[in-house]
Amino acid sequence: MTTLGTPLSPNATRVMLLGSGELGKEVLIALQRLGIETIAVDRYDHAPGQQVAHHARTIAMSDPAALEALIRAERPMLVVPEIEAIATPVLQALEAEGVVRVIPTARAARLTMDREGIRRLAAETLGLPTSPYRFCDSLAELQAAIDGTDGHQGIGYPCIVKPVMSSSGKGQSKIDGPDDVAKAWDYAMAGGRVSHGRVIVEGFIDFDYEITQLTVRALGDDGEVETHFCDPIGHVQVSGDYVESWQPHPMSMAALAESRRIAKAVTDDLGVTLDGRPGGLGLFGVELFVKGDQVWFSEVSPRPHDTGMVTMTTQWQNEFELHARAILGLPVDAGLKSPGASAVIYGGVDAAGLVFDGVDEALRLPGTDVRLFGKPESFVKRRMGVALARAADVEAARRTAKQAAALVRPRRA
Ligand SMILES: Nc1ncnc2c1ncn2[C@@H]1O[C@H](COP(=O)(O)OP(=O)(O)OP(=O)(O)O)[C@@H](O)[C@H]1O
Ligand SMILES: [Mg+2]
Repeated sequence: MTTLGTPLSPNATRVMLLGSGELGKEVLIALQRLGIETIAVDRYDHAPGQQVAHHARTIAMSDPAALEALIRAERPMLVVPEIEAIATPVLQALEAEGVVRVIPTARAARLTMDREGIRRLAAETLGLPTSPYRFCDSLAELQAAIDGTDGHQGIGYPCIVKPVMSSSGKGQSKIDGPDDVAKAWDYAMAGGRVSHGRVIVEGFIDFDYEITQLTVRALGDDGEVETHFCDPIGHVQVSGDYVESWQPHPMSMAALAESRRIAKAVTDDLGVTLDGRPGGLGLFGVELFVKGDQVWFSEVSPRPHDTGMVTMTTQWQNEFELHARAILGLPVDAGLKSPGASAVIYGGVDAAGLVFDGVDEALRLPGTDVRLFGKPESFVKRRMGVALARAADVEAARRTAKQAAALVRPRRA
């Protein structure tokens, strides 16, 4: 049985979000609706989620001392990571000490904070299909990994180079031939989250399409963890950043079954807690490449996924509500309500305090909705909002979502 308290009272159920961007904001809203007392943490003031939480805290979450001090001071029941760049060893230590529960587990946060932990787990421990890959610490090692002169089978061309610590496509580039290698290395060095230069080089998968398989680990009637699958989400990425997504993405029965087998294997493993029990709860975004009936694991977020914003219009319980419910031990319904699509609204300018023209025009299109995240500062390629559309089929929804996104025009005030 789950018992929830009253916020701002001695019996409050307190939940801390580490990272309070647009995804965290929606999780916080879902928690607020259940009367949870929320603490929104980010590295800058007035982050989207801080605007809707009971408490806002601004710290460098990658600083172990600052993170530990904050958690010990606030004593939340749950710590919910929303980003990868967190001092995860601190989370592991505090979880081991019994100070907090980390969602889904501190180990999952640790393994997914860089590309190496999760790739080695998926490919080497779990034996799941992935692109061929190698980790390299210098341009010479990268060249040798591609050519196969390091004693292993060469990755060959084309291939993709990514900093081990990066997200949203930062520092990532495709290499088509020997002339591109040095450029890709330099680009990765400039784009990584931390200065030490380690990259993954992956063989290029010529997939037909890619999906996000949202997967929820929630408690069933008997108190055991059950796995629920949302309908597959299709998406388009431009330079490693999602610009458009839709649900459901049509798939063969075989490809869908294989996707769910992979998603179950990864999330089962990431759900194992420190004491070896399958207690890790919450929603995961499993990224998969599909060609015919063949499926490759790419990566996984142990938290709501940006492409899953489409579920704000397509599901009875969107991915944020599913996450909020699952982590509190409540039952979930991952069912689809209607086909739909999402399209990203970029800032288009570098400026603080933008204004947005045309929201009315966007909302006049049938079946649309718009979210503006309230980020205090815009960059040309910063995601400032998202347009959503429901329709009879995904093609119509995609057209309308893109139209709606284009009608919202951010500008300097
Ligand atoms: N090995 C590959 N073969 C073909 N395409 C790839 C490969 N790796 C990545 N991509 C493409 O680049 C996109 C981004 O890659 P990936 O998800 O690894 O980076 P990311 O920086 O974590 O992005 P995000 O944070 O947006 O998920 C993928 O969704 C896919 O479209
Ligand atoms: Mg990705």
